[in-house]
This record gives sequence, C-alpha cells and structure tokens, in this order.
Amino acid sequence: MREALRSLGEAMLIRFVRLEGRKFLELKRGIERGFLSKGPLGKKVALYVHIPFCRQLCAYCSFNRYPLDEELAREYFKGLRKELDLYIDRGFSFRSVYLGGGTPTVMMDELSSFLEYLRLRQPIDEISLETNPRDITPENVRLLKDLGVRRLSMGVQSFDDRMLRAMGRFSHNGLEAIEKIKLAQGVFDTFNIDLLYNFPTQKPEDLKEDIRIVKELGVDQVTFYPLMPAPRKHKAIERRFSKIDHGRERVFYRMILDEMMQDGYVPSTVWCFSRGDHMIDEYIIEYPEYIAIGSGSVGLYGGVFYANYFDLTNYLQRVNSGQFPIAMSKRLTRKELLHYHLLTQFFGMSLRREVHRELFGRDPEEELGIELLVLRLLGTIEATQGGFRVTRRGMYVVSGMMREFFTGLNRLREYCMSRRI
Ligand SMILES: C[S@@+](CC[C@H](N)C(=O)[O-])C[C@H]1O[C@@H](n2cnc3c(N)ncnc32)[C@H](O)[C@@H]1O
Ligand code: SF4
Repeated sequence: MREALRSLGEAMLIRFVRLEGRKFLELKRGIERGFLSKGPLGKKVALYVHIPFCRQLCAYCSFNRYPLDEELAREYFKGLRKELDLYIDRGFSFRSVYLGGGTPTVMMDELSSFLEYLRLRQPIDEISLETNPRDITPENVRLLKDLGVRRLSMGVQSFDDRMLRAMGRFSHNGLEAIEKIKLAQGVFDTFNIDLLYNFPTQKPEDLKEDIRIVKELGVDQVTFYPLMPAPRKHKAIERRFSKIDHGRERVFYRMILDEMMQDGYVPSTVWCFSRGDHMIDEYIIEYPEYIAIGSGSVGLYGGVFYANYFDLTNYLQRVNSGQFPIAMSKRLTRKELLHYHLLTQFFGMSLRREVHRELFGRDPEEELGIELLVLRLLGTIEATQGGFRVTRRGMYVVSGMMREFFTGLNRLREYCMSRRI
C-alpha cells in the first residue's frame, strides 16, 4: 500500500512538471522589453550556439535542423557572427561556449572561422561541441582539438544497425560508430556519446548490448536520452511501430543505473554517466543563465526565457538588419525561475544551498519548502550537509520530470517550425 502511494506520488510529480512546463513554455511573440540590458542573475553566463544543418535528417529528432545547403550554411555562419557581435557590443562576455545542433561540424571550415572569430573577440575557457560520427575523421579530430574544443559529444543512439534503421538514422552504421569512437577517445578532456532508449522496437537486451560495447571501448562519458519526440513525430513513430510506453522507460532506466554504476561510472546528471576527472556536461546545470544564438535556439537571461526565429529566412533577415532575431519570449515569475532552478539542479543530482543563496538571496527552504518536503517524503531527494541530493530511487523520477520538460520544449520547436516562425 505504501509503495503504491509512493509510486502514485512520483507519477503525479512527473505530471506536475508536464503541466507546469507547458505554462513555462507559453511564450509570446516579440521581445520582452529591456531584459538584455539587465545584469546576470549569477556571475556566469554561458553561450549556446545553434548550427541547424545535418547531412541527413533522423526521423525521431525534434531539434531545429535542415538538410545541408552549403551556400545557405555559409550565409548562416555570417549571420551568426553578426548576432554574436550584437551581444558582445552590449557588454556580454562568455567564458563557456556550447555548440549544438543540428550538427555543428557539417562545415568544418565555417566552424573553424567562427571559433577563431569568437576567440579573437573574447577569451574563452571552455568549448563543448556536438558532432555526428560521419564527421569524425583524423583531420577533423586534430582540427577540433587545435580549435580548443574540450568536450566533444557524438550522437550514436545505438550500435545496432536494425535499431538505427528503425529510428530512421542513416548517417552511420554500428561498426562505423565504433571506429569513430576509437578516433576521438582520449583526445579531448571529455568525450561523450549519446545513446537513445525506449524506442518502441528496442528491447532492454538491445540497450544492454549497446552498454556492453560502450564499456568495452572505455568511453569517458555516456548520455542516455529517453525518447521524447514532439507530438507529430510521436504520432508518426507510433503509427509506424507501436505505442511509446513510458512504463517501459523505468525498466530501461533501472538497467542503465545498474550497468553504469557497477562499472565505476558516476552520474553527473540523471542522464549522463562519467568516468575519470574533469568531466564537463550540461551547461544548463552550471549556468543559471545562458544566451542563445542561432536559429531556433532558446535562451534564458535576465529572468526572460526566449526563442530565436526558427525559419532561416526570418532569422537572416533580422540579423542582417542589425536586430536581435528573437521571435518569442516570456518574463518568468520568481516561482517559475525557482522551479526551473530546482529542476535543473536536481537533474544535475544536487541542489547546493550556497549556490541557491547566491542566486536567489534566500535559503531554498524559504521559498521551496513544500516542494522540498514532498520530494523528501517521496524519497526522491535527501538532505546533505550542503543542501539536498537526489537518491538512487529518485533518479528515475527526476529523469521523468526532465523528459517532460524537454518534450514540452520539443513541442514548442515543432510549433515554431510548422508555422515558419
Ligand atoms: C541535437 S543532437 C546532436 C548530435 C548529432 N547531430 C548526431 O545526431 O549525431 C543531440 C542528441 O539529442 C538526442 N535526441 C535528438 N532527438 C531526440 C528525441 N526525439 N528524443 C530523445 N533524444 C533525442 C540524440 O541522442 C542526439 O544525439
Ligand atoms: S539527431 Fe543529430 S544528425 Fe539526426 S537530425 Fe537530429 S541533429 Fe541531425
């Protein structure tokens, strides 16, 4: 009975995030006044740069991405530099940069010039970058290292060719992914690979085999993404295969935890497991605020959550005429900011009282007393000397909460793309 109540409470928490997340993501057209002239909430602001091109588009993916058109991509990189200038000229400075996509490495010459330009304008401590196995060659690995990339993250999703085909991912096969891992492993401070789970045709044994390969290769860091497509992609996957069952997700997740923890991997987020020192992962945990540039990127700054134009013509028109290409935005309430912070910190395994106080000027219990009490009663978190940490059981709940938040974000992306915003 107690267990049933607990499970019900956990399911309600995940549902709560789904509903609150939707409200959080109800952005309005236009740019909230004056938010870019406000100082940052904490001391640090990260920069996210979106490169929306891929050589082949995967069927499950809900990010803003377009098939590579070289001429357009060159225009785009020019626009990106203009957008960066808009921020730097306003006094923004960034020490940490995350380039995501799409596939940032689709045009290496443009990427190199962009990073060189960025470095000329500002000293950068940390560059993280996403890539696809297809772009990993000995030359590119050397170039990325020389450009100062410290964390390289490569999407693999699965080593199983049947799974890759079912997912509609044709950029590489399993054996190629293994070869590419061998090329990049050990070169960067952190080398991460992404695996996808809970695809309808995937069985726990399939994921277990993927994990076995990862461990055998000694990969530094693995991020496990539960499948979380936007509504249209969700329907298309279910039409073609079968229902996406979140109930199965728990079985997969338990296996991930067992398999990774028994081999010395430590969770740096509830999705990301690392081995060794100096591992870098999600910027949203370390940086309470981040500026986003590039089409279809989302940022959080000065208490405002915003999304850039997704449509490339709209995006380029704005940046080429010297305007911020922000399509939608929303000023968050203090409660929304507190909830966002709570979620991202627990996604990163712990909430540190000191960090919270520095950001919000009060102890977490003062404004999040009920939320923390419920999470503690359900056994999702426990108190520590410096704050709170997620329990082993709680990791699945936080994973479900984060999946709901990101699914909401994917819904927003799909909305903007389908309306050519
Ligand atoms: C934006 S992609 C960039 C990686 C690179 N373009 C590649 O795919 O090789 C980052 C990661 O997001 C994850 N991802 C993309 N679409 C997803 C979805 N619908 N559900 C869950 N994870 C997803 C994949 O694991 C992917 O590796
Ligand atoms: S998963 Fe990566 S390669 Fe595939 S479409 Fe999405 S961004 Fe492009």
